[in-house]
Amino acid sequence: MKIAIGADHGGFDLKERLAAFLRKQGHTVIDVGAYDDRPSDYPDFALAVAGKVLGKKAVRGILVCGSGVGACIAANKIPGIRAAVSHDTFSAHQGVEDDAMNVLCLGARIIGPQLAEEVVAAYINARFSHAARHRRRLQKVKKIEDKA
Ligand code: RB5
Repeated sequence: MKIAIGADHGGFDLKERLAAFLRKQGHTVIDVGAYDDRPSDYPDFALAVAGKVLGKKAVRGILVCGSGVGACIAANKIPGIRAAVSHDTFSAHQGVEDDAMNVLCLGARIIGPQLAEEVVAAYINARFSHAARHRRRLQKVKKIEDKA
């Protein structure tokens, strides 16, 4: 799978580790930065990852900042992005299966690297169910987005 990944300084180390983990699993990783741990701004990476997903250069996105929250707020401002902070494997896969989450946000100051890999694997291996009730709910989410 093609996966876009980005992080600010708070998420840089974990982003590097997750990119290596994903490559080892055979995925194609598009790393939009940051490329070092100097202070940087999470909205820049949210925009870059969202651009790859919406432009169909990547199927899924991953954002890492200190808490996951700032990157998630920024990503969800972009129409078509369904981002969520998840630090557990259940919501990481169910968020895709039921809610078509397309950007996973992680907080490097919260989650350890081992669990982060498991959460990322749960997210990447999950597929949207296409169940009628979930499609209906997604349509309603889209309506909210269109209205806003
Ligand atoms: C940066 O210090 C920090 O605020 C950022 O990485 C993130 O945690 C924001 O949500």
